[in-house]
Amino acid sequence: MDIAGITLKNPVMPASGTFGSGQEYSGFVDLDRLGAVVTKGVSLVPWEGNPTPRIMETASGMINAVGLQNPGIEVFIRRDLPFLRQFDTKVIVNVCGSTVADYLGAVERLSVQGIDMLEINISCPNVEHGGIAFGQEPRMVEYITKEIKKKAAQPVSMKLTPNVTDITEIAKAAEAGGADALSLINTITGMSASGKRKKPETACSVRHFLIKYPYGVLP
Ligand SMILES: Cc1cc2nc3c(=O)[nH]c(=O)nc-3n(C[C@H](O)[C@H](O)[C@H](O)COP(=O)(O)O)c2cc1C
Repeated sequence: MDIAGITLKNPVMPASGTFGSGQEYSGFVDLDRLGAVVTKGVSLVPWEGNPTPRIMETASGMINAVGLQNPGIEVFIRRDLPFLRQFDTKVIVNVCGSTVADYLGAVERLSVQGIDMLEINISCPNVEHGGIAFGQEPRMVEYITKEIKKKAAQPVSMKLTPNVTDITEIAKAAEAGGADALSLINTITGMSASGKRKKPETACSVRHFLIKYPYGVLP
């Protein structure tokens, strides 16, 4: 199977963030059998993530607001990448950032041997732009894709957020920016609320809600 010129021996790969950076699950899953490992999001500097609770079970599934906790790119390159390279599987590194400069710095730093593809998580809030996610504005998506393509040493897959009115507009913007592939889809925004108390059930869902809708504009 080919994606953006990279040949995978099969199409099986974990969704970013559900498999750590590979090592955590290697006792349960033979990594040699996967087409690729998609890593947890990595950022230029370490991110602490959200306060707990971060995960909540609901009647219809699980909601989470981990907040992209990760030890930063230097630890990833020194510790996680050499571990992954021992296996016969492709390595797709998921990248997150809070500013355009964050993404570009991370992408540039990842220009090292042993990474087959970059997956860019553009569901992160853009702190220079009122907190709206990068991936919710077509013009921003085209711009950031173009800038990332200038720096990237590997093929670039733009991971789209479903939390938009028309995802095809966003997909076309990523294509116009030069994306080599698209990854669909990131987390659907959710909140578990108590009908009785008329309040969100957990701190994590409150926080998630505030991050996604910084001006209190309800969906
Ligand atoms: C615990 C958890 C952590 C996640 N972390 C990331 C992440 O670091 N980067 C990312 O792009 N997506 C992350 N995701 C989103 C998933 O990769 C996936 O896109 C999302 O869960 C939608 O797929 P699903 O509908 O099959 O759950 C995470 C999801 C979960 C449940």
